[in-house]
Amino acid sequence: MAQSPSTKTPRSSQELVRGLRNAVPYIREHDGQVFVVAFGGEALTDAQCFQRLIRDLVLIADLGVRLVLVPGARPQINQRLHAQNQPCAFHQNLRITPESAMPLIAEAVGAVQLEIISWLSARLSLASGTGLAQRALTGNFITARPVGVIDGVDLGYTGAVRRVDTAALHAALQHEAVVVQSTLGFSPTGEMFNLRAEEVAEAIAASVGADKLIYLTTLPEHLPSTLTLDEVDRWLPDPEQAAEFSGHLASARRAVEQGVARVHLIDRCMDGGLLIELYTRDGCGTMVTKEPYEQIRPASLDDIGGILALIEPLEREGVLVRRSREQLELEIERFIVIDRDGDVIGCAALYPFPAEKTAELAALVVHPAYQHGGRAGRLLQYLEDMARQAGLESVFLLSTQSIGFFKERGFTPLEISELPPQRQQLYNYKRNSLAFGKPL
Ligand SMILES: CC(C)(COP(=O)(O)OP(=O)(O)OC[C@H]1O[C@@H](n2cnc3c(N)ncnc32)[C@H](O)[C@@H]1OP(=O)(O)O)[C@@H](O)C(=O)NCCC(=O)NCCS
Repeated sequence: MAQSPSTKTPRSSQELVRGLRNAVPYIREHDGQVFVVAFGGEALTDAQCFQRLIRDLVLIADLGVRLVLVPGARPQINQRLHAQNQPCAFHQNLRITPESAMPLIAEAVGAVQLEIISWLSARLSLASGTGLAQRALTGNFITARPVGVIDGVDLGYTGAVRRVDTAALHAALQHEAVVVQSTLGFSPTGEMFNLRAEEVAEAIAASVGADKLIYLTTLPEHLPSTLTLDEVDRWLPDPEQAAEFSGHLASARRAVEQGVARVHLIDRCMDGGLLIELYTRDGCGTMVTKEPYEQIRPASLDDIGGILALIEPLEREGVLVRRSREQLELEIERFIVIDRDGDVIGCAALYPFPAEKTAELAALVVHPAYQHGGRAGRLLQYLEDMARQAGLESVFLLSTQSIGFFKERGFTPLEISELPPQRQQLYNYKRNSLAFGKPL
């Protein structure tokens, strides 16, 4: 039916509505969480990109996220050292810092920090969504120690994190401040050390129990959207090549090993990349976690809502046989689900007929947004393995619309009379489903 002009929603508004609906659960989830956001000094070299990042960071802070920013300053330091004909040497990707370099390093780090504070202050004064006094704040939250001598090379005033003053940091974050943490740290005797931004970010994220550590960086092509610790190494090139990305990925790995649940790597030049990664289900960057982000597992009662949301539309269309919530509760141990970051995006069930040494596969569904990724194939494999382990010799299923899918996976037609007698009694001749079987 044609809609009258007054009720027709323009396409751009529809996108906005859809985007808002999808974002709200993430806005709620992240409200009050602590994110440590780190980036190399390279991020400041493209003023346009950097201003967009600052705008998005302030928006995130305005949505209730507590932010600690950790900017690096390596290119700015190199530039100052070169301009003064000072040596610029590294060992194991750590700067060799003679005392004479420290004033230049302090100057470079300070200039980066001031630039960020100035951009932040301008944007924070415009953002007043929470009505609370947000401000940018710097502080002495890190106690440092010298790295010392490595492989016989004295690293001089290059430092390591000795301690993070978590109480002071938490207090600052409680007051809605955006904290900008410098990479200069002081020893208890007042000596100043040059720290790596990555180490500072890792230490802060681990010690304050941050919900996320985020790197705004450059991303290589074809980097997957999720990486577990086991998969990180494949993407880590020679650590001697101090490329921005590999430094950040190596840091992501260390942070996860230290207990940070999620580390995100986001393209710092992608307009809105930070918002897409944080407020949409699939994001646009790469998330490093200890456990897989998506996994197949047995269903529990907590999954009933998710399973119903998947199967109900198909039941209404007649693709699947109707199951009530009560029936699903009784049969929940028959189900497996694909859990994607807490959301059920796929399910399937296995109903054994032990006397006939067979089992029925049923309710195989993958959410439309995630189809064509091999997920149904993996669910099928998982159930077939379960059936094999239970000592069964074959599996069968009834289908009206996905016949081709099962034929391609080794299933061949069965007569209804070949099904277990108990199942034949329940066969619905009105549905006229076709039966398929597969030996295990
Ligand atoms: C059938 C279904 C589970 C497949 O999920 P999926 O995750 O996309 O499957 P996979 O990625 O493992 O395999 C996809 C391949 O299966 C085949 N396939 C998928 N659906 C098919 C269908 N209805 N008929 C024939 N072949 C099909 C195609 O070859 C497809 O390849 P393509 O990605 O190159 O197009 C999904 O489409 C779905 O949920 N459908 C609605 C519920 C349903 O019909 N369930 C089966 C009855 S219990």
